[in-house]
Amino acid sequence: MSAPETIAAVHCLAPEAGVVRIDETSDLWWKNAVVYCVDVKTFLDFDGDGCGDLPGLTQRVDYLAGLGVTCLWLMPFHPSPRRDDGYDITDYYGVDPDLGSLGDFARLVRMARDRGLRVIVDLVANHTSDRHPWFQAARMSRDSPFRDWYIWSDEPGEQPAEVVFPGEEESAWTYDEEAGQHDLHHFRSAQPDLNLANPDVRDEMVKVIGFWLAMGASGFRVDAVPFLVQDREHAYELLRSLRAFMSRRFGEGVLLGENNLPPEEQLEYFGPYGDMLNMQFNFVLNQAMHLAFARCDPEPLERALEVLPDIPPDAAWANWVRNHDELSLDQLSENERDEVFSIFGKDPDTRIYGRGLRRRLPSMVDGDERRVRLAYSLMFSLPGTPVLFYGEEIGMCENLDVEGRLAVRPPMQWSAEQHAGFSPPGTRQLVRPLCPGYEKVNVADQRRDQDSLLNWMERLIRRRRECPEIGWGRATRVPCQRGVFAHRCDWRGATLVAAHNLTDHPVCTTLCLDDLAEGDQLLDLLGDADAKSAESPEVQFELPAYGHRWLRIRRAGQRVLP
Ligand code: NOJ
Repeated sequence: MSAPETIAAVHCLAPEAGVVRIDETSDLWWKNAVVYCVDVKTFLDFDGDGCGDLPGLTQRVDYLAGLGVTCLWLMPFHPSPRRDDGYDITDYYGVDPDLGSLGDFARLVRMARDRGLRVIVDLVANHTSDRHPWFQAARMSRDSPFRDWYIWSDEPGEQPAEVVFPGEEESAWTYDEEAGQHDLHHFRSAQPDLNLANPDVRDEMVKVIGFWLAMGASGFRVDAVPFLVQDREHAYELLRSLRAFMSRRFGEGVLLGENNLPPEEQLEYFGPYGDMLNMQFNFVLNQAMHLAFARCDPEPLERALEVLPDIPPDAAWANWVRNHDELSLDQLSENERDEVFSIFGKDPDTRIYGRGLRRRLPSMVDGDERRVRLAYSLMFSLPGTPVLFYGEEIGMCENLDVEGRLAVRPPMQWSAEQHAGFSPPGTRQLVRPLCPGYEKVNVADQRRDQDSLLNWMERLIRRRRECPEIGWGRATRVPCQRGVFAHRCDWRGATLVAAHNLTDHPVCTTLCLDDLAEGDQLLDLLGDADAKSAESPEVQFELPAYGHRWLRIRRAGQRVLP
């Protein structure tokens, strides 16, 4: 790496990290962001009606800024009959009155921005609620100007390969008495698919994007990408036009796609010139990671990493451990999926849709915090941008008494007080039952304990932000002992090496780092070991059971800020 001319011209990654230019790259903020997904309904109830709200979330912006996350992703907060927990919208331009008002949204965005946090919102373009006025008008008459906003057929039309919620819906076509025709719905029958081939519908979605950008959003998590438009070419065209519009309005806007497809297909959705989705969740890596955890063997992860295609330089993968949906294992083979079920989903009640688990990680690993830290350290070190789901920072579990996927979306656990501090004392009923055990797992207690998961997570987030090699660099495997997953991320002469022991026993590991030169040093970024001079390209250390280590190579002569 060539040394920068003046220290003032660069940002320093960490005082001990050496100096790496990140200058203009900070425009592409999503490549080094830490995203935090919030369900407003279940985060903090400010007005005491039992339902979380935007003013509640706004009260916690300092908590989130202190945690170090840089971008909030809000799950849908619009008016909705909540047949799919808000992913069934009746007004794209509004706020569910239980959750607040547009004014509350504007205030949240301002408070967040003031603390360096961006806000992105869900864009649910595939479907509306069946109670949306557009659908109500469409079903009334074949002559309605809204009729063609949805997809109709006299006979149940060609079935999509599978319904997304097997067991809950038998078919993707439902006969609508009022309309006298069948309508297409990939998800629930209460969520009719919009006809995005219709230019008026596309124009409306453009308006929705423009509206939330004008309200201060920094982009969108695009829901259900594979279902937006039936044929691929039209889907690409649609995404390209939405992206072009967004970029015209707001240059640093981001489109983060939920697109559960094999990576080579996902590649197409970034666009050949990086002109479609800026980011996509990496489902294959997520599923391989869980298989690797179940087996205590990194091989599936190594395989997944090897086949990851190169993506356009401005684009990014988004990685996560658990999200608000089931832990989908649909891209694993049947045997592999059964293997994960047999370890993490022994109780059939934890399984859902035949493809996933309605659990959060800590309960999957029987509360073993070593394994929880291993998982987050690993996820944060994978190529891409880490995405946390609220409550992961304190190790929240699920409540299996709650139906379906809602089990993993309990109210946030702020304290051991009544209602876990989510609602004020005396509130009669909460939007959703609490997760048992909040007296032991909550923010207030963990803040007081330096060794808590929360304080550890805060340190991990700070480190991740100081390691742009991960988001920007090229990740390659480093061969090492069985049971350990080691990889390195190289970017502009900076190198981060991470090693994760997936086994339940200590492993003495040797990493071969060919390019280590005399005078180079290894800095322990997450632990407290002293910097070590590299004596040979073979670096040896012991990793405890489920242990992890992040090392940065400080090249001889690299400048260090005080
Ligand atoms: C994906 C969302 O993550 C999920 O929760 C929802 O049910 C479907 N899309 C339909 O909007």
